[in-house]
Amino acid sequence: MYSMYDDLEYIMIDKKRIEEKVAEIAARLDEDYRDKNPILVCILKGCAPFFTDLIRAMKIPLQIDFMAISSYGAGASTSGQVKMNKDLDKSIENRHVIIVEDIMDSGYTLSYLKRMLSSRNPASLRICALLDKVARREVDISPDYKCFDIDNEFVVGYGLDYAEKYRNLPEIGVLKREIYDKAE
Ligand code: IMP
Ligand code: MG
Repeated sequence: MYSMYDDLEYIMIDKKRIEEKVAEIAARLDEDYRDKNPILVCILKGCAPFFTDLIRAMKIPLQIDFMAISSYGAGASTSGQVKMNKDLDKSIENRHVIIVEDIMDSGYTLSYLKRMLSSRNPASLRICALLDKVARREVDISPDYKCFDIDNEFVVGYGLDYAEKYRNLPEIGVLKREIYDKAE
């Protein structure tokens, strides 16, 4: 029987490492945002599993909101184009905002988002990313909090997709090149 794991080169980050790191970042956020009632913004869809784990690991009062944007299309390489598909429900004026993102790659998506949300006058605005592909950066931006630095490989799982697939894998794995080569 076909398994999504057949499409992986290898598992890069297993459940235990994810869980430990999420707990560590949650504790840092608890400390830094104590008494600030922050708004954590989930960037859909890739960030959903990380976001729900992160907020449940945090112990301080907080609020959540959701925003959907896309920068990639179906492929595995960046387009530099960012499109907003769903905006936040509530105002962030004078609020402490944490943008939670699945992965920072070229940096285009987050620099666009940061500029857009800054213009709404939040009290503070920081970025928390699950993964950081530092070597791929094309704009001068970096996450304030991050779980893992990774090499320049295309990864899926724990929310991350290739053509909307693999988001439900509990681990983060490197996708076999033949999977996206044959599509492009
Ligand atoms: P950036 O604008 O180039 O930083 O791209 C960020 C977005 O690209 C992320 O939110 C992901 O949706 C997507 N992305 C970048 N690298 C990967 C990857 O290795 N796997 C899956 N999606 C990725
Ligand atoms: Mg994506």
